Amino acid sequence: MTTKPMVSEKERLELAGPEELALVNAFFVMLKTAQYVDSNNATFQTQSAKFYLAFRRMADERGRVSIKISDGRIFVCDRLVRFDSDGLVRARIVSDVWQSLGIGGVAFDDSLDNRQIDKFVHLVATIKLTERDHNRIAERLRELGIEGITLFGMEQKTPQPLLTAEKRSFLRRAARATFFRAISVVEDVMAQAAEDKEVDLSKARRVVHSLIDQIAEDESSLIELTSIRDFDEYTFAHSTNVCVYALTMGVRLGMDRQRLSDLGFAALFHDIGKIKLPGDLIRKPDAFDENDWAQMQRHPLLGAKTILRNLKFDRNVARAALVAFEHHINEDFTGYPALTARRPTNFFSKIIALVDTFDALTSGRVYMKKAIPPDEVLRKMMYQMNIKFDAFLLKMFVSIIGIYPAGTLILLSTEELAVVVQNNPENLARPVVKTVGDRKGPHTEYLTVNLMLVENAERKIVRIIDPKKYGIDIKSILLSDR
Ligand SMILES: [Fe+2]
Ligand SMILES: [Fe+2]
Repeated sequence: MTTKPMVSEKERLELAGPEELALVNAFFVMLKTAQYVDSNNATFQTQSAKFYLAFRRMADERGRVSIKISDGRIFVCDRLVRFDSDGLVRARIVSDVWQSLGIGGVAFDDSLDNRQIDKFVHLVATIKLTERDHNRIAERLRELGIEGITLFGMEQKTPQPLLTAEKRSFLRRAARATFFRAISVVEDVMAQAAEDKEVDLSKARRVVHSLIDQIAEDESSLIELTSIRDFDEYTFAHSTNVCVYALTMGVRLGMDRQRLSDLGFAALFHDIGKIKLPGDLIRKPDAFDENDWAQMQRHPLLGAKTILRNLKFDRNVARAALVAFEHHINEDFTGYPALTARRPTNFFSKIIALVDTFDALTSGRVYMKKAIPPDEVLRKMMYQMNIKFDAFLLKMFVSIIGIYPAGTLILLSTEELAVVVQNNPENLARPVVKTVGDRKGPHTEYLTVNLMLVENAERKIVRIIDPKKYGIDIKSILLSDR
């Protein structure tokens, strides 16, 4: 049978333990094995026995065991599973396959025996392309006489409730305070490292935790701040932007707090090596020549060295050094530094490389001297640079940022100019916006409009607009309470 999903917001908050992790890992390995061998094969039998044991234990206790995928995250018995890097890779392979099958999850009843589970796994692993549909699979299960397996359809995303004006304004104020604190922490740490002093990282650690709390509650308030581009020293704001994006990805990936803290820390200091380069080069207003590039390409190694030398050693510092070293290497190894032995980069480096490029291109302040609108950058990244980045992470990033990232100024078909406030995940082309002006210039009163609502159907997004063109001061809008 098939039913509609499945995971409520409340349930999402429950975290899985080692039992659930072991069960889902055993399930993934069994699925993978089933793609290559039949059910009598000894390797498959070993994997199947492992899964069945874990299943039995859980089913005896709970009566039914479910594995669901929602938003790229995996839930066992409605508890969010937090994976390590290897686990994440396995999970994403399965979630991609299931997505193509239209399956959002599966529940196994207590009554099932291992033979029936083996049949199901083989059915899913070997299903023909033409039958890739969860209703068809459910039908096949009936034909095979297997009862006790429930397939869930893909999740129908329910529209996110909009925050009340009061709550939104509170969250925006808090986001601003944290954002600017992060910028000043990066500035302090980089200044101390520039003088070759040992750096105290307690402030950095605290600010990363504040960012995590904020993102867990409302990511758009921080994301809108990343679109402020006119900072004098862009490196500090850039590092903060990269940290906000990376943590947003980490939260979506279901990372636990310790890993989020490591990731945020690595993001904040990924470009620390730049303080060892001449200031004129970093601030150079013209395009880089060959010599400038040769200089610039030293910053990953300088960064790793600076982190190991000046930042007190602990586990997130070691990872940060690796990320600083790897963040320009690229998935296809076309970046720098050139490696003699090619090995895959760290999972954190993959996340940071991706969001770093997005911020660099949209800001026009790092390496590139001209800013590219975010929609164009995302298109470039999706279609021209997709071999440079991890495809799964890239897809996830687009779903976070949307076509029109929070903070972007757009022109509506009603001739209004509006700032994007929040994405509607179910329709990235119809975000929540705030009208701030028209072609004649800025308005004094702003109006928040959800473009998803039918009453706003006549407001179509025409294109992204450069705020300077109509005298719109995007920075003061983003920093205001209106
Ligand atoms: Fe960099
Ligand atoms: Fe960077």
